[in-house]
Amino acid sequence: MKNIIFIKKKIQSYNKKINVSADKSLSIRWVLLASQAEGISRAYNLLMSEDVIATLETIKKLGIKVKIYKNYCEIFGNGIGGFKYKNNLVINAENSGTLGRLVLGLLIRSPHKIKLIGDKSLSKRDFSRVTNPLEKFGAKFYYKIKNKLPLSILGSENIKGINYFEDKGSAQVKSSVMFAALNASGTTSIRAKKSRNHSELLFKYLKIPIRISKTKKYDFIDIKKPKKIKAFNYKIPGDISSAAFFMVLTTLANNSKLLIRNVNVNPSRTGVIKILKKMGAKIELEKLRNYKGEQVSDILIKSSNNLKAINCPSKLNTSAIDEFLIIFLVAAKAKGISHFKDLSELNKKESPRLDWGAKILNMMGIKTKLTKDSIKIYGNPNLKIKKLITIKNYLKDHRVFMMSTIAALTCGGEWKIYDQDSINTSFPSFLKIIKNLNEN
Ligand code: S3P
Repeated sequence: MKNIIFIKKKIQSYNKKINVSADKSLSIRWVLLASQAEGISRAYNLLMSEDVIATLETIKKLGIKVKIYKNYCEIFGNGIGGFKYKNNLVINAENSGTLGRLVLGLLIRSPHKIKLIGDKSLSKRDFSRVTNPLEKFGAKFYYKIKNKLPLSILGSENIKGINYFEDKGSAQVKSSVMFAALNASGTTSIRAKKSRNHSELLFKYLKIPIRISKTKKYDFIDIKKPKKIKAFNYKIPGDISSAAFFMVLTTLANNSKLLIRNVNVNPSRTGVIKILKKMGAKIELEKLRNYKGEQVSDILIKSSNNLKAINCPSKLNTSAIDEFLIIFLVAAKAKGISHFKDLSELNKKESPRLDWGAKILNMMGIKTKLTKDSIKIYGNPNLKIKKLITIKNYLKDHRVFMMSTIAALTCGGEWKIYDQDSINTSFPSFLKIIKNLNEN
């Protein structure tokens, strides 16, 4: 049967070096910003996953030339607001919340209506979080079902900077507003709850007029419309959200060691390392370096057989937001009761991940206490699974597939996991890397 994997054996011990797929957040941002630059921008190691290919297809439909070579990708930017397209254009963000939300920020001057569609999972997700601020700028939205895809955006010539309070800790919302600010007269001021700051670092690198001041909880960001953005080259580092699956695989495997090379360890993304280390995982950063404002390093992980529960500080939530499923798996094997709270955002991802986390752990025989925005996990270091576990109908959420695979390889039992192709949205080489670790 195609598109289903069966796992009946735990992974054997290994000592290897790997690279994981390129950072998805940075890949999507590079494509969108290169489309607004003047001239040819080039990216090396661009993530060639479905979410990023959908981004390339989107800018192509908006009149931007793209060339893909074996080792790099070129985008022929047309300047800020330089999209060219006909009436009745339809763009498709497929599974990608980041693409769907960020591209709307670039369309707020659009003289024609543009329709945005997405796949089944994206069509269930809330778009009011970006349509609200973009309406404040002066854009108009049309829907069948309010705040859901499909929706159409109609821009306006008269776009003025806004003041906006981003209170969810959503980098997608913050970035959508930042991208809109590129097209707005005057200053756009954002007070944003902390979240990943790749857009800010790219704006700084591109010399877009941006001022940032920080308090413990919020970042205050002022942006002015730049005269132009110069074309720029970028070498995309590995994605810590993909690396996280292998950090946990190695932590839970027997007597193993892994070096993951060249991963983006931007401090706004390293919550997973902080949380796992607090739980007793052995993880070290090696050869830390700076790349165009981002932090990049190799990550060394060793197996640990002494994991303890965590009462996870909520302040780490946004810096580990895509890693909670895999962190829950570590909590399942740790000694004691772990508590994760203030996580309502987790049920708003590609699938309701907080609910799915509990569901999978329960199938494994782990007790949980679930609320709307929190989970308690009753860890069992001696967990032995002796039954068949089937994972399906999870809206093809790539991270549910990968978490289940890591659970199967480290906790035993027999697993039948549907929708293997879900990994193509973020980490197409995931299963190949596992195969390589399992071969001596
Ligand atoms: C992302 C932001 C996060 C994250 C998503 C990627 C980004 O979403 O979950 O995978 O690239 O800006 P939210 O902004 O909804 O938290």
